[in-house]
Amino acid sequence: MEEVMKKNRTVSAEEMERQKEYIARILAENERYLAENGSRPRAFVLTLGCQQNEADSERLAGMAVAMGYEMTDTPEEARLIMVNTCAIREHAEQRALSLVGQYKHLKAKNSELIIVICGCMVVQEHRINDIKFKYPYVDILFGTSSIHRFPEFLYEKQRRGRRILRSDETEYLVAEGIPVHRESSFRAWVSVMYGCNNFCSYCIVPYVRGRERSRRRDEIVAEVRTLVAEGYRDITLLGQNVNSYGKDTGENCDFADLLAELDKIEGDYWIHFMTSHPKDASRKLIDVMAGSKHMARHFHLPMQSGSDRVLRAMNRRYDFEKYIGIVDYIREKMPDAVITSDIIVGFPQETEENFEATLTALGRARFDMIYSFIYSPRKGTPAAEMEGQIPAAEKSRRFERLLAVQNEISLGANQPMVGKTIRVLCDGISKNNKLVYSGRSEGGKIVFFEGEPSDTGNFLAVTIERAEPFALYGTVNR
Ligand code: SAH
Ligand code: SF4
Ligand code: F3S
Repeated sequence: MEEVMKKNRTVSAEEMERQKEYIARILAENERYLAENGSRPRAFVLTLGCQQNEADSERLAGMAVAMGYEMTDTPEEARLIMVNTCAIREHAEQRALSLVGQYKHLKAKNSELIIVICGCMVVQEHRINDIKFKYPYVDILFGTSSIHRFPEFLYEKQRRGRRILRSDETEYLVAEGIPVHRESSFRAWVSVMYGCNNFCSYCIVPYVRGRERSRRRDEIVAEVRTLVAEGYRDITLLGQNVNSYGKDTGENCDFADLLAELDKIEGDYWIHFMTSHPKDASRKLIDVMAGSKHMARHFHLPMQSGSDRVLRAMNRRYDFEKYIGIVDYIREKMPDAVITSDIIVGFPQETEENFEATLTALGRARFDMIYSFIYSPRKGTPAAEMEGQIPAAEKSRRFERLLAVQNEISLGANQPMVGKTIRVLCDGISKNNKLVYSGRSEGGKIVFFEGEPSDTGNFLAVTIERAEPFALYGTVNR
């Protein structure tokens, strides 16, 4: 048992204490800066990629604030710029590199500026070399397993002036107790596990995030309890495959047990989670959700493809029959549940027939919404080496066809909402249209309405009047 607990692989308390000392030293320097300049030095963090990265960025910001920085939205006024990168598709990497390119002139203007690149992209050897040689003005680089050591790297950089270019710790651990600076006061991310063991043949995540490791149940329960007490209304539990939660903790608590435990916390809030892998989405999990008070009736269940041959080549370890069985069971237990999915088009050797199987599957599954992606070869993954890569133009054509089919289905899923009054968590004035407010339904659907400033962060009852494939429009019942 002792061995199992050790295998729970948490960064040691001594190591976290050591980092706190670096935080204190930088804080002292920044207090001097404040005394001399009348304002705190500013820090800017830019996040690419998934919610896991957003959660990590809130920890980077948390450490920066603890070190005496004030967060800013404007890179031009920052003395510390952090770019938290993603490697999931080529586009994400190109964006990161182009942003870093743009910061070159900021560095030229301000030699005191420190530029940090971290996250999934810079765990890869070839990207570390890119930064090393092509972006000499980047000061600090570290990978996903070293995030808790950021204060140490920053201190060392400031003290010695030398660049710090580290790939990663050899071991991927869980770091508890890193300060968090949350962007929202009503929506929060809570990581329940890190890493992935699945090695889907197209995916870079297992290579850049290490093996699965779960946080202890009590740490998660305590964090969620605090968030609810602080007034958070929507808490999203994060993991690359939450269904693997607890396999390594020796606590005899799987993900469904964790949800049942969290559901006992009193308050008015929703719990979402992502992502659940279909290969081991259990009936127990669905039953717990159906019987719970706080679990949002929303299931994000990435299908990736409707063709069994492609699913096998993707190493997904389920076939369409198994997949649709889960969807049917969710709908049986929770008829109103919103089900969303991820689809990849243009996987190597995907034939017209295989692609059509995906279109047929969409018609059968009738997802409320999908996130669709054009396959992007990732260096070091098996799929990138496969023969029969699909030409870009064909991938785009399939992508457009997929969207057209799903748009109809999404509209069909949203139309029955017209006339109904639903609960919406208000996010405030819409980013794209300053005249309206927006919010999200329990199932994560975006809803637009005429709001008031005091609505932000609150649950509202909204009667839906109009439906589009990706949005609902309604009026608040006051
Ligand atoms: N762990 C989650 C997925 C995380 S990545 C899961 O297994 O469901 C989010 C999505 O990005 C994946 O579901 C997949 O659809 C897409 N994706 C991953 N690698 C990709 C690649 N190389 N090209 C295109 N899309 C990819
Ligand atoms: Fe990638 Fe598959 Fe792991 Fe999801 S389950 S992160 S798609 S390897
Ligand atoms: Fe997420 Fe991108 Fe990393 S999707 S886990 S930030 S590769």
